[in-house]
Amino acid sequence: MLNFIITETYSAMSILAANRVAAALINKPDLVMAMPTGGTPVGMLAEMSRMAKEGEADFTKTFSFNIDEYIPLAKDDPQSYYSFLQHHFYQHAHIPTENTFVPDVQAADLTAECIRYEQIIVDHGDFDITILGIGHDGHIGFNEPHATHSSVCHLIDLKTETIEANTRFFASKDDVPKQAITLGMGTILRSKEIVLIANGVSKAAVMKQLYDCTRIDPLFPASFLLLHPNVTVIGDREAASLFNL
Ligand code: GLP
Repeated sequence: MLNFIITETYSAMSILAANRVAAALINKPDLVMAMPTGGTPVGMLAEMSRMAKEGEADFTKTFSFNIDEYIPLAKDDPQSYYSFLQHHFYQHAHIPTENTFVPDVQAADLTAECIRYEQIIVDHGDFDITILGIGHDGHIGFNEPHATHSSVCHLIDLKTETIEANTRFFASKDDVPKQAITLGMGTILRSKEIVLIANGVSKAAVMKQLYDCTRIDPLFPASFLLLHPNVTVIGDREAASLFNL
């Protein structure tokens, strides 16, 4: 069973997750991190940025990798997941640009690009810490249902449900990219520590499914986290409203 921590508020969830990163950073200034995007991590990234600004944490020697990226958004496209991390975290924490990584989703050969990105991660000794969000269908990064536990970085066709869930970040549903490059579950499971965060009532059903989960189910990619020895799920009270903890 996964280790769950439930906080009363979104703010408390965000601070707790940021503290996990800061704690790992104390032990390893050149921390290798995999960072999520979406609505959930905004508060955590703000807290990590605050820590950096106020001298409580030094991210200037860290390495940060995007967990996923939409095809074919350019790195500097305001809608790209790289821009998201730049905007919410990197610029505030003064992480050197050369220490920040994202798949080049405009590469001519995207399959070769996936292999290249995976190799960069391996060359950095794999992630010390991975922070994850969770999709309503249990997707992790963009590992949609029918995932496998050993997959590495790969191309993915996004499910209709995922496209609809992410429409809120775009002008219209038609503007949401239909494909992405994502870290595989295998890449993520090689991380030394994993923290999954979830907030709000919209995540209550998937959080209950995760809480009740006792076996691997490829249709529920988050279940692969059961294979990892050091996973902490941090949810706020609303996300945990369908189970007792
Ligand atoms: C997207 C991202 C995931 C993220 C998920 C949840 O599909 N690829 O990495 O975890 O959405 O996003 P949100 O936090 O906005 O609910």
